[in-house]
Amino acid sequence: MSIRIVFGATGLEVSPICFGTWQLSPRFWGEQSKSDVLAAMNTAYDAGINFFDTADAYGDGYAETVLGEFLAEKSHKNAVICTKVFNHFNPDASRYPDLSPEHIRQRCDLQLQRMCIETIDLYLLHMFDPLTPLADVAGALDSLKKQGKIRSYGVSNHTVEQLRAHRHFGDYDAVQPLYSLIDTEIESDLLPYCEAENIGVMVYSPLHKGLLTGKYTGSETFTDFRKHLGEFQCERFQAIATAVQSLGPLAKKYDLSIYQLVLAATLMHPGIDVAIAGIKNSSQITEAIGAMGKTISREDYFVVRKTLTIDGISKIQDARGEKK
Ligand SMILES: NC(=O)c1ccc[n+]([C@@H]2O[C@H](COP(=O)([O-])OP(=O)(O)OC[C@H]3O[C@@H](n4cnc5c(N)ncnc54)[C@H](OP(=O)(O)O)[C@@H]3O)[C@@H](O)[C@H]2O)c1
Repeated sequence: MSIRIVFGATGLEVSPICFGTWQLSPRFWGEQSKSDVLAAMNTAYDAGINFFDTADAYGDGYAETVLGEFLAEKSHKNAVICTKVFNHFNPDASRYPDLSPEHIRQRCDLQLQRMCIETIDLYLLHMFDPLTPLADVAGALDSLKKQGKIRSYGVSNHTVEQLRAHRHFGDYDAVQPLYSLIDTEIESDLLPYCEAENIGVMVYSPLHKGLLTGKYTGSETFTDFRKHLGEFQCERFQAIATAVQSLGPLAKKYDLSIYQLVLAATLMHPGIDVAIAGIKNSSQITEAIGAMGKTISREDYFVVRKTLTIDGISKIQDARGEKK
């Protein structure tokens, strides 16, 4: 089933589910089987997923290198690639923000080489760099576009005000923000702005890093980076896991798993074009694909929203009300 949408003003035609490769960052997720991930990329592509998300930062280039192995296959040439730039990497593995024009140019060349491609379809600023003038950043991106090294560009992890300011200098046509049905903060500003301006929106962590998949009871413990996240610990973890599990009968009504119900409901928001699913193996992407093109009734959509509004809030907050 090949479903395609036009991704905002980038004009790219992509599947509404994008394959996320952050899982290839050992620092966050621990070691993953490369062959499992490559098999999952093949499963995805064969089943109609043409959009792949990666970043220079994922495993310090490792995720791009693995994606490059997949893209080296002639039959995968129609894949649409999104990657990001931001960090300067030191030999001792430390890093710091650097979106200076010269650095962007260097990274882009390296990233193209790693992924065995001539053009990056969508190039995103991974985060906001406070030290580089916005005109310089846009100048570097426009010059890469003119050279045919990137097709379109945008931002990730920027506020609506930062995006607005960037757009004064360049054609930023896409954004990649954090969003899930338990962290809907961008609904108040970024999403309506992007909808009005025809900016493509691809949300990350739609299953809140696995928390909304329905596989947790709330008693599990984690060895990866999730051991540091409040929502994966103690009472809060239990409350969210119980709420998610309670969606079982509703999911069944639509012949979907809980994971698929949540992903399908996430994609129903008119301001969201694409959800990036984080994938470790073929069975995970197969389940994600099962949500593509599925919708639920308006009434049931709001049942899901209400169920996932824990303690009266629909975003993850700590005691001081700060976003985690
Ligand atoms: N721009 C940014 O700053 C940024 C930040 C984060 C992510 N991203 C991008 O967005 C992608 C998605 O984010 P995310 O990784 O947080 O996504 P997610 O889809 O919310 O969570 C992914 C995790 O859920 C679990 N999972 C996946 N499919 C499953 C299934 N069918 N059944 C049960 N569990 C399943 C897996 O972990 P376990 O199997 O270990 O439970 C997987 O690692 C990333 O890969 C990356 O490309 C971008």
